[in-house]
Amino acid sequence: MRGESLLSLERLAGCRLCRRSRWRVLRSRWLAASLTCTILVIYMCSQDLLLSSMRFPLLWESSNPPRQVTVLIWYEPFGKRRRLGNCHILFNISGCHLTTNRSLYQEADAILFHHRDIIDYTDFPLMGRPTFQKWIWMNFESPSHSPWLYTLGGVFNWTMSYRVDSDIFVPYGYLFSRKRAKIFLPRKRKLVAWVISNWNEDHERVQYYNQLREYIDIDIYGRYGMELREDNIVKTVSEYKFYLAFENSLHTDYITEKLWRNAFKSSAVPIVMGPSRYNYEMFIPRNSFIHVDDFSSPRKLAMFLKYLDKNTHLYRRYFTWKKRYDVHVTSFWDEHYCTACETVKTTGNQHRTVSDLAGWFES
Ligand SMILES: *[C@@H]1O[C@H](CO)[C@@H](O)[C@H](O)[C@H]1NC(C)=O
Ligand SMILES: *[C@@H]1O[C@H](CO)[C@@H](O)[C@H](O)[C@H]1NC(C)=O
Ligand SMILES: *[C@@H]1O[C@H](CO)[C@@H](O)[C@H](O)[C@H]1NC(C)=O
Repeated sequence: MRGESLLSLERLAGCRLCRRSRWRVLRSRWLAASLTCTILVIYMCSQDLLLSSMRFPLLWESSNPPRQVTVLIWYEPFGKRRRLGNCHILFNISGCHLTTNRSLYQEADAILFHHRDIIDYTDFPLMGRPTFQKWIWMNFESPSHSPWLYTLGGVFNWTMSYRVDSDIFVPYGYLFSRKRAKIFLPRKRKLVAWVISNWNEDHERVQYYNQLREYIDIDIYGRYGMELREDNIVKTVSEYKFYLAFENSLHTDYITEKLWRNAFKSSAVPIVMGPSRYNYEMFIPRNSFIHVDDFSSPRKLAMFLKYLDKNTHLYRRYFTWKKRYDVHVTSFWDEHYCTACETVKTTGNQHRTVSDLAGWFES
């Protein structure tokens, strides 16, 4: 019973408070979140908690045929056409109609606007806005790569991003609990890897790398380095003990697939550069990663890595989490679309407007 209700909580898409129960985020962000939490989300959470703990059937399982929700994807992200997935087959979320057909504007329950594809106001729907319709701002880039935010205040009803305090929180990945298991690590004969496609000498991460490599060998893959084995990051990085999970810019909650897929999926200890250690610890155990801020200089970090290299026992301690958790890497974009759909289905008719988009996202 307990397992079941936890599962249904995890499935409850877009619920900021519920989703957070996955990790310490729940505890750490509770206060902050309850301040910013919208009435809408409180309503969702309390409804769902109540329903699942009392074993009532969920609303959309009632005898009435479930209402179909239409989610219109206004821009296909980065202009790339994709086949839309089926939310029921992929995520067991029924009653979702995903479409990119703009003729369905009047009947769409929600419209997803991918931030990077908004060029100017003439790109928005010009027809009147149905009162029930939710305009959802969708963005997975960091504020450093999200221009024009300040022009978009008062336009959208909900936000969807990697930030925990979004109306619809979709992280790049997360740990989920599973049955206790033995820790298995692939054979590791190499030391430090980094896959990088966007090399910019002005970026903090490149400057740090330039210092670090004075003291320790680092294998570079991607456009500026070696080719990946079979074009596969996880296969390639699995041979390494450490991975440089350096984000392209440093912002609250901005922790990308560099950590979840490149490092964790490859069972390489992530050396992270991004938000603070405190922020990382809201999502992952404190002893599962090394933060560059833990060391006063790249030289000291290099010395520590060499020390761990010689101490198998200490090195393996970084994988204690694997006994109880597994990694989920979020798949673009079906998971995002279906999560949006599920959120629309589980919320009522409360109205909300995101008035200060820039102020919030850049904070
Ligand atoms: C799919 O969802 C339904 C209700 O939403 C639930 O009863 C069922 O157990 C789920 N199936 C799987 C495989 O999770
Ligand atoms: C879009 O929807 C309209 C109205 O239902 C329909 O007539 C049209 O054929 C659809 N277009 C595509 C490309 O599916
Ligand atoms: C969405 O935001 C618009 C613009 O502020 C507002 O007029 C409308 O009532 C909101 N709709 C919902 C469903 O929240």
